[in-house]
This record gives sequence, structure tokens and C-alpha cells, in this order.
Amino acid sequence: MKKGVQWLWILTFVLIACTSGNPSSMANPSIKSEESSQTGVTMTIDNPLYELALKRRSVRSYGPAHIDDDIIHEIMKVALTAPSSFGHRPVEFVVVRDKAMIQKIGASKRMGGSQIDGADAVVVVMVKTANERAAEFWIEDGAIASAYLLLAAEQYNLGACWVHIRNRMGQKETSDVEIRRLLQIPDGYTVLNLVAMGEKAENKRPYTESDLPMDHIHYNRF
Ligand SMILES: Cc1cc2nc3c(=O)[nH]c(=O)nc-3n(C[C@H](O)[C@H](O)[C@H](O)COP(=O)(O)O)c2cc1C
Repeated sequence: MKKGVQWLWILTFVLIACTSGNPSSMANPSIKSEESSQTGVTMTIDNPLYELALKRRSVRSYGPAHIDDDIIHEIMKVALTAPSSFGHRPVEFVVVRDKAMIQKIGASKRMGGSQIDGADAVVVVMVKTANERAAEFWIEDGAIASAYLLLAAEQYNLGACWVHIRNRMGQKETSDVEIRRLLQIPDGYTVLNLVAMGEKAENKRPYTESDLPMDHIHYNRF
């Protein structure tokens, strides 16, 4: 065998050996396990998503700071990664930055809509409900995308709040109809909710582990 070919074989062998080791020897940056002489293995688990989720609270009062378009776009990209029924991706968003339009949208929810008046950005979460199959899970699809938005906003230390629209009334018609008319959203979509965002102007205590209903988690059976 020629020397060059021989080296190629050796290199391939070394690469395969390095990448296909047993799972415990594979580097996993998020799970560290340490040997303990007393109890066997103890686990220290990093959970940055949990840390973020503890900090997320509904913030309904906003300061004057302007959120960069780039930051808003980063947040919106996270929402696009949300799972959807059948992978149909029926959720779409209108990001509203115009203050006068934000007020009009707020007025489209007769009870409590004005809470978005001070927001710097309002994301209108709507779902394509024209398609019968996608319509079956439209609430779940919209809700999970909205949850992603709320967490993503917290990542940039922004205040955010879900503002409900489904089954709510506007000035004359349903909030859904009035918002769709304002934003020229075509037929075949239904607005589920808004996510208002802005500089935090209320200081809400992050959750701690003791705030959580740990007894709501059941393993193997209730
Ligand atoms: C389906 C749903 C509808 C909600 N609707 C509203 C709403 O219309 N207005 C509002 O201020 N908050 C609304 N919220 C936010 C809840 O009031 C809030 O999540 C709850 O009080 C817990 O507080 P936290 O978000 O700080 O944990 C809604 C939340 C969900 C999940």
C-alpha cells in the first residue's frame, strides 16, 4: 500500500475512534456528573432555560426606552421555532411599533385593552384557521408560539405580557374582527392574543423554587 493511502486509513481510524466513544465519555456541556465516594454518582445539572423561566413574569407597565428592531427580530425568530400541529406552521405575527396603532389595537379590546398603550412593541399572534386540519389545533399552535415569545423577551430583560383576544369584544364587533380590519389581515386568519413588550417599569420578583407547585409533577402515575 502506498504511504499516502496508509496515512489516510490511519487518520480515518483515529477520527472514528474519537467520535464514537461510549456515551459517558462523550462531552456534554450541560450535564456534569461527579463521582462521590459515599453515594455513587451525584449530578449537577445546569438549566439556563429554567433560570430564565423563573425570571419571566407578566409585566404590564412599560418605560419609554425604544427596543432595537434587531432585538425584536431575534425574539420573533425564536417564536418561529415553536412546534406546531402536523408541522403546518399556521401561526403568523404582525409586529406593531406605531404608537397610534398600538392604542387603536388596545381599544379593540373593550375591557382591559388599554394596558398595552405604553408598550413599545405589540405582537399580534394570529393563526391560519381557514385550513380545516390546521384549525383543529389553532389555539395550541398560537399559544405555544406566544409562550416562546414571552421567554425570548425575558432573555433581553424586556417586560412582556400576554393580552387575551379570543372571545373578547371590541367597540362594536369582536376584538378579532376589529384588529384584523385595523391591520388588513385577510380572511382565513384568527387573532388569538397579543404579546405586549417594552422596557420593564415594574419590578416583579422572579419566581423561586418555593413558589412552584412541585406536587403538580407526577412521575409514572398520579
Ligand atoms: C391564556 C392567557 C391569557 C392571559 N390573558 C391576560 C390578559 O388578557 N391580560 C393580562 O394582563 N394578562 C393576561 N395573562 C397573564 C396572566 O395573568 C399571568 O400569566 C398570570 O397572572 C401569572 O403571572 P406571571 O405571568 O407573572 O407568572 C394571560 C395569560 C394566559 C396564559
